[in-house]
Amino acid sequence: MKKQALIIGASQGIGFGLSQVLASRDWQVTATYRSTTEDNSDPTIQWLTLDINDTKQHRAFCEQLQSQKYDAIIINAGIHGPHCTFVDKASDDDLFELYKTNTISPMRLASHLLPYVKADTGVLGFTSSIMGSLNENTEAAMPIYSSSKSALNMLTRSLRPQATANGVTLLSLHPGWVSTRLGGEVAPVSVDASAAGLANVIEQAQGKQGHHFLDFQGKSLSW
Ligand SMILES: NC(=O)c1ccc[n+]([C@@H]2O[C@H](COP(=O)([O-])OP(=O)(O)OC[C@H]3O[C@@H](n4cnc5c(N)ncnc54)[C@H](OP(=O)(O)O)[C@@H]3O)[C@@H](O)[C@H]2O)c1
Repeated sequence: MKKQALIIGASQGIGFGLSQVLASRDWQVTATYRSTTEDNSDPTIQWLTLDINDTKQHRAFCEQLQSQKYDAIIINAGIHGPHCTFVDKASDDDLFELYKTNTISPMRLASHLLPYVKADTGVLGFTSSIMGSLNENTEAAMPIYSSSKSALNMLTRSLRPQATANGVTLLSLHPGWVSTRLGGEVAPVSVDASAAGLANVIEQAQGKQGHHFLDFQGKSLSW
């Protein structure tokens, strides 16, 4: 039987690339977009719509999944947020949108999705960032965006008791600095290279259990 993946936030960039790579490796992929997507013509990918910030939709979204059990669910949606360095230079609205999109909504959605991850071998992953690590990002580059990922990592850890009880592996994933709308054109890693690496990491994590912070090449990152 084909492995099943659900990729949340796959209209473009890393999520789109990961959906394509897993489908090419014969996974059955369900992917989500909120309004439009780069290309939904691949008949092997099932597309659903979801704006993760519309949290009232979360329950109804999950009900569509029926009794499906996924080998991997990856919550990838994210934004850069305000480009300034200091919180006092950013508007409340921009800060709230950032933390809601990168931290609060992924965690709310995860609590609904955890029962849909296959017991014992399944993976629940979040696209985090190396920037969210105090040890790896010692100078606090891009602190506002980075802190949204630090908080995401900590809240992901809070899922560990429930994940462990079901044998589910939690992954906080760093995709590399990737050439996307968010990463910018000068980023050194292509979507294809990042997505292929992330797919390897996800495949190798099946059944590992615990909570791991890994980059797209499988390197373990410090928190
Ligand atoms: N690129 C990098 O260098 C890099 C490095 C570290 C971590 N990351 C993380 O990787 C993830 C993907 O980023 P990317 O570089 O691929 O950026 P991207 O090309 O801008 O793609 C972001 C994806 O998130 C979706 N999204 C944003 N807000 C959403 C919402 N409210 N509901 C549903 N989907 C939403 C976007 O959908 P729309 O098309 O509808 O906007 C898009 O599919 C993000 O979590 C990002 O923080 C990226």
